[in-house]
Amino acid sequence: MAARVPIGVLASGSGTNLQALIDACGEPDYPATIAVVISNRRDAFALERARRAGIPAVHVPRFRKRPRSEHDAAMVEVLREHGVRWVCLAGYMLLVTPTLLDAFPDRVLNIHPALLPSFRGLHAQQQALDAGVRITGATVHFVTPGMDEGPIICQGAVPVRPDDDLERLRARILQVEHRLYPLAVRQAVEGRLRLDGGRVRVDARPGEDNALWGG
Ligand code: GRF
Repeated sequence: MAARVPIGVLASGSGTNLQALIDACGEPDYPATIAVVISNRRDAFALERARRAGIPAVHVPRFRKRPRSEHDAAMVEVLREHGVRWVCLAGYMLLVTPTLLDAFPDRVLNIHPALLPSFRGLHAQQQALDAGVRITGATVHFVTPGMDEGPIICQGAVPVRPDDDLERLRARILQVEHRLYPLAVRQAVEGRLRLDGGRVRVDARPGEDNALWGG
């Protein structure tokens, strides 16, 4: 097998998507390896997950009085030190700036807990409940300077059940997220995603589907 492509993961919270990527990278034929995990929060459980998996875990604090681009520049340095080729935002709660995007052009991915372009921004699951939609889901997309606006790579649909509350819906969306992100990263590092205007063309393998269905 060709050498695995080093990726960096940015996470602010519990890191279940990070864990899905760690698990995928543990598969013998997976084409990526996580070179470093960075968090803006020292106490993020994502950092602990990285340490447990033997992955370098780096806290890059956000200094509130300094421009966000300085914070991103510090992250770029860490990512470069670790030879990172692709960057995955996985529950990373700060907006990234052109400083990071320009350092990794068309190589930054994000996962969002809704079927974009619906319900951008924070509290996407609550937005879906409030809107009364019957189907929501999750999306992996390329990151652009606008929030949750970049070209869509893959999506998973999740029904909203009549008795759903926020926690139940969030949990079912997460299940589909954990399938989506390893798929998108595989396609990304294998060079099978092509940007065509605002759309993504996928060179899919037999049996691969960029539209998933969750329960
Ligand atoms: C996920 O719902 C992801 O879509 C969103 O933030 C949440 C992170 O969850 N961007 P986790 O930290 O991966 O468990």
